[in-house]
Amino acid sequence: MKKRLVVANWKMYIQSPQEAKKFVSTLRRRSRLFSGVEVVIAPTHTLLSTVVLALKGSQIKPGAQDVSIFDSGAHTGYVSASSLKHIGVTHVIISHSERRAQGENDEMFRIELERAAQAGLTPILCIGETERHVDGAHFNVIEKQLSILSGLKSAIDKLVIAYEPVWAIGKTASEAMRPQELTETVIFIRKTLADYIDRKDALKIPILYGGSAEPSNVGDLLKEGQVNGFLVGHASAEFDSFIQILKACKK
Ligand code: PGA
Repeated sequence: MKKRLVVANWKMYIQSPQEAKKFVSTLRRRSRLFSGVEVVIAPTHTLLSTVVLALKGSQIKPGAQDVSIFDSGAHTGYVSASSLKHIGVTHVIISHSERRAQGENDEMFRIELERAAQAGLTPILCIGETERHVDGAHFNVIEKQLSILSGLKSAIDKLVIAYEPVWAIGKTASEAMRPQELTETVIFIRKTLADYIDRKDALKIPILYGGSAEPSNVGDLLKEGQVNGFLVGHASAEFDSFIQILKACKK
């Protein structure tokens, strides 16, 4: 399996160019502490250029938090995959539950995946149920979200899946998913991926966990949860927490 991957989803936590620059420059200077771990920093759109510049020539990559379904034209306020590529962005988060909550849907996410792939970006597709059901109905939710991959050959090459149970997002490590439950879900995701895409490709896709990943739980989630890394929200905007998470991911 590939290197571990950790994606910092800064959401709207870090908003000033000064803070963003200081964060990534310091991270870069300390990168020996987490050598071998692939790291992506996804700031808010207005900070992308600052982050791209501060990371130039580094192994740490810049990512966007969202992308438009449109590629060009009269679409006020949208940001296209090609414009992200032009400024040096390499990754993009797609279908985050906070975008779903704003009305975006699977049909749009499928187009976004295609746009990202056409532009040469690595798409990080977020999936996850809003609640767990005793009868296992949450697995149907995951299956439906993954079904958008059916026939999407172009987006598969670089695809990353981030499994983020919505009920665990923005809480604390004690409320995050337990490693045992995560293992079951990761196995289910791999099996389902193989229903929609080539089995060999399905085995290669990194699966990240997100939802209150913090320094205190990432070790167990990695060891027992069978994930390839994390999509980190609040803890990625606090420098010390983020460094600890990265160190825990070092093999
Ligand atoms: P959290 O967010 O780590 O703050 O729970 C994760 C995410 O929403 O990507």
